[in-house]
Amino acid sequence: MSETKAFVPTMGALHAGHLSLIEIAKSFSSNVVVSIFVNPLQFENPDDLATYPRDLDRDIAKAREAGATEIWSPTYDEIYPGEIAPISSGDLGKKYEGVGREGHFDGVLTVVDRLFKHIAPQWAVFGEKDFQQLFIIKRWVKSHNIPVEIVAAPLIRDLDGLALSSRNVRLSREDRKAALVISRALRQATSERSIESARDRLHDVLTSEPGFTLDYAEIINEDNFEPATSSRKGRALVAGWVNGVRLLDNMPMSSKSKVVAE
Ligand code: PAF
Repeated sequence: MSETKAFVPTMGALHAGHLSLIEIAKSFSSNVVVSIFVNPLQFENPDDLATYPRDLDRDIAKAREAGATEIWSPTYDEIYPGEIAPISSGDLGKKYEGVGREGHFDGVLTVVDRLFKHIAPQWAVFGEKDFQQLFIIKRWVKSHNIPVEIVAAPLIRDLDGLALSSRNVRLSREDRKAALVISRALRQATSERSIESARDRLHDVLTSEPGFTLDYAEIINEDNFEPATSSRKGRALVAGWVNGVRLLDNMPMSSKSKVVAE
């Protein structure tokens, strides 16, 4: 029988969230491939691309320690050797994260397609932290009959409740305090009984923190990513900025939020 592979695509700056993806990948195959590639196609903002945290030696050591059996950190030319025909993420790619980030999800699908073609995994693990990305990738894999099983990994929070993200290193202590409004708002909203009161609570709590600039807050239905009409299969999504640092988070309705610290 040919060897199986479980794949964890990353853009480096590995934290406990990524390591949990590697842990999950190990339960599918003894061959765990981790890619490290900061994909310019999914950055609409050149400053964000330029300042994206990079430390390849540290990332390789962390991935190995977590159990990766193969690490691939391709160059731009290896991924994009010729002309690029971006893969469309459709209408959903223009909503929520896609509104201010034109082409972001097309860039994600384009690189994931190239990574899948190169690695040919049976499983690929993506975090629920980027919930819209996960939905778009699952839908694309299904509609194109791509022979890779997409495995969703739960979002990981620090002890104080902040969702782990590579961008968190840019937050000062004060910024971090302001950022905690996100998990607070999600916790309160997702324990509301009705979808209307959950939406109100989400907005009220988020707008009560002067250090947080709200981009969007919505409760969507996990099956179709449309605004939820009831709590069933609802998931609250939030994005915004603290001192120029973009933060994303989400929580299922009526969840007891998981806290797993580094
Ligand atoms: O989630 C990420 O880190 C990136 O979007 C991904 C999936 C590695 C594609 O560049």
